[in-house]
Amino acid sequence: MSMIDCQLVFNVENREYVDLDLYRSRGGYGALAKVLAADPRESVYVLKEAGLKGRGGASFPTGLKIEMVRSNQEQERYIIINADEGEPGTFKDRYIMTHLPFQLLEGVTIAAYLAGASRGILYVRHEYDEPRSVMRESIAQAKRAGLLGENILGSGFSLDIELFSGAGSYLCGEETALLSSIEGRKGRPQVKPPYPTQQGLWGKPTLINNVETLSNIPKIMEKGALWYRSLGTEDSPGTKLISLSGDIRFRGLVEVPFGASFRDIVYEYGGGPKPGRKVKAVNIGGASGVLIPEEMLDVPLEYGACARAGITIGSGAVFVLDDTRSILDNVSNRINFFLHESCGKCTPCREGLRQAQIIMEKLIAGQAVMKDVQNLERYTRVMQNASFCGLGQAAGNSVISSLHYYGEEYCSRCKDGEEDLYGEESA
Ligand SMILES: Cc1cc2nc3c(=O)[nH]c(=O)nc-3n(C[C@H](O)[C@H](O)[C@H](O)COP(=O)(O)O)c2cc1C
Ligand code: SF4
Repeated sequence: MSMIDCQLVFNVENREYVDLDLYRSRGGYGALAKVLAADPRESVYVLKEAGLKGRGGASFPTGLKIEMVRSNQEQERYIIINADEGEPGTFKDRYIMTHLPFQLLEGVTIAAYLAGASRGILYVRHEYDEPRSVMRESIAQAKRAGLLGENILGSGFSLDIELFSGAGSYLCGEETALLSSIEGRKGRPQVKPPYPTQQGLWGKPTLINNVETLSNIPKIMEKGALWYRSLGTEDSPGTKLISLSGDIRFRGLVEVPFGASFRDIVYEYGGGPKPGRKVKAVNIGGASGVLIPEEMLDVPLEYGACARAGITIGSGAVFVLDDTRSILDNVSNRINFFLHESCGKCTPCREGLRQAQIIMEKLIAGQAVMKDVQNLERYTRVMQNASFCGLGQAAGNSVISSLHYYGEEYCSRCKDGEEDLYGEESA
């Protein structure tokens, strides 16, 4: 069996699980029944042992997060499913909601039960009409079958899930901005602590997890922590859904066990570049991720190894640029995106992005000098270090990584580009 064929946690080839009866006939909801019959503390232990980490970007241990909500004295608790999926180039949560809705709902119900939450909100990206309607219908079906609502499977546990539509803001995927937007306030990030697990929706303890994270839970509860750990590596158990796009032969969603290399992802899963072309750069993690050169593709998809190599896995988008692409155009597009999405609350992000945009435009027009490039790096580093939230902290990742790996492309566009990029400073 090739790596591409093996379906592990997600059945990404088979789209038939929108049918509840079929899902149940293949073992679906068996994990929920098992969890409802067991001691919740044991189930939380299994999740912690499995080593599942959040797939929304921050990779926080999921079992620990559930335990934090569960141990709160406050009895009114919420679960929020983050389906905002705003990261450009990412489409895994859309796929899960459209094709595997009951796997998600089963995972949500288990997580809610373990955290002691009886109200859930599915926060869906504004543009996701089809996923929203599949989820609405699936929630209704699950309710009719006694798998949601009052007294689930006769256990005494009840959970209601309602849908909430985002309004098209990338920033509202950030958990505190998301909470503000549900509460009817401006979708802006808030100071942490308190964390949502302590004081979340309406000030109550709230479990916020990504769609992919929650959809991992049924298989872990069904097959156990050891099975899950056998899929990935010691550092990063399990698998990751990768949204693969750009200048490659096969684009789409693939499920990749942690430990596979980015070379496997680009060349085996993605089929490599189109005939006659070469891979020039690969963007990992979406607009807020980094650009790496072909020579770095042997780095494994693994949280620790990626962190050491300066790569952020983020939401798992992998976008390939072939040798016809301009790095500066790519970086400039991202800066424009973040400038559009920045809420303007803090100066480093608001002004840093504005200055970066001006410099990128000058560079592309051939009007920049080397001093502009040095300033671009300086502003970006301030933005990374001093911004209030993750948007500003990550917005410059493509700038810094491309300056590092493709510095000559910046220099060649400068009027005085013969000089060493850091000549003045390093002298
Ligand atoms: C600017 C910004 C946008 C984000 N957008 C998303 C998103 O669209 N979906 C998501 O699940 N997490 C997003 N996150 C991460 C969330 O804040 C949060 O960490 C996540 O939903 C927690 O779930 P997890 O532990 O399952 O990953 C975003 C974070 C930042 C800083
Ligand atoms: S970093 Fe950007 S998006 Fe985040 S609070 Fe500051 S201005 Fe707003």
